[in-house]
Amino acid sequence: MSESTPLLSVRHLSTFFELSGNVKAYALEDVSFDVYPYQTLGLVGESGCGKSTTLMSILRLLPPNAHISGQVLFKGVDLLALSEEEMRAYRWKEIALIFQSAMNALNPVMRVDEQILEAILLHRLLPREQAWQRVQELLDLVGIAPQRGRQYPFQFSGGMRQRAMIAMALACSPSLLFADEPTTALDVMIQAQVLELLKNIQKRLGLAIVLVTHDLGVVAELCDQVVVLYGGKVAEYGSVDAIYNSPQHPYTQKLLEAFPDLHRPTASLASIPGTPPRLTDLPSGCRFEPRCFARLERCRHEPPALREVGEKHYAACHLLEEKENLLE
Ligand SMILES: Nc1ncnc2c1ncn2[C@@H]1O[C@H](COP(=O)(O)OP(=O)(O)O)[C@@H](O)[C@H]1O
Ligand code: SF4
Ligand SMILES: [Mg+2]
Repeated sequence: MSESTPLLSVRHLSTFFELSGNVKAYALEDVSFDVYPYQTLGLVGESGCGKSTTLMSILRLLPPNAHISGQVLFKGVDLLALSEEEMRAYRWKEIALIFQSAMNALNPVMRVDEQILEAILLHRLLPREQAWQRVQELLDLVGIAPQRGRQYPFQFSGGMRQRAMIAMALACSPSLLFADEPTTALDVMIQAQVLELLKNIQKRLGLAIVLVTHDLGVVAELCDQVVVLYGGKVAEYGSVDAIYNSPQHPYTQKLLEAFPDLHRPTASLASIPGTPPRLTDLPSGCRFEPRCFARLERCRHEPPALREVGEKHYAACHLLEEKENLLE
């Protein structure tokens, strides 16, 4: 696969949850983006904006009340059109997932190296002897010494446990890794180490990564492309340079203001006044309208479409059209 062909193309992905009383929660609407080999795409936005739902929709790991539509093309195959049986060949083997509380998913009373071995034996057809070899390679890759590997998770710190989970996620040599707030539960020093590890692993293995985070400092460090989600829709999408140096959407601008120093991301996204929309009762116009400092009259009634604002840079805001009209 060439580096200019996307590994994953998400097209018009929409997901709603059916709640009791015939109520629907529209968690994602018309989300599209591409992930290229060897690249990291950051998925950012406040809590509840649909980041995890995006990953779980792609992997089809949502509960039965979820309805997913659109296309998820992975190496040209639409994952949403596969049977459950066929889909199983993609999870872990092609696309692996690590998440914030993953480190608590380890069995506390089983040796770490044995748990990684089990993961390999479960998914791969490697004979036991070779599988042990692979365990050692994986431990080495994530910086766990062999003698530490023989310990139990309860003897591990949070950071070490997250390393072990990364080793497990890589057991089947996936080409794409989904990392959903992988360092949020860790303290700042350890966060930096785990992120550095992900960066190194990406280089060594040539992985593509989708990194979910609410931390724009992390995005600046690790990502090539950024998708900014707001209320389940793409507010802005572009290269990390475009997003940081020329943000076009008022929401992106506010997010960046909330992180004045990208290398010391202490600010919280909650510093943008107001809250994201309720998914069961969405505004009929722009979803950001109630909180937008730049809103126009039409924003209340008309949802803005995603427009191209630069090379592979898109934003959904009526202001952009007004600007274009002024220039004409
Ligand atoms: N199983 C579910 N049933 C109903 N609503 C859900 C379910 N899972 C997620 N949601 C809703 O979807 C929205 C997006 O959630 P999520 O993707 O977890 O956001 P994020 O990861 O960005 O914090 C939230 O409002 C959440 O309450
Ligand atoms: S469309 Fe209107 S309300 Fe929405 S972000 Fe743009 S200016 Fe603000
Ligand atoms: Mg989440």
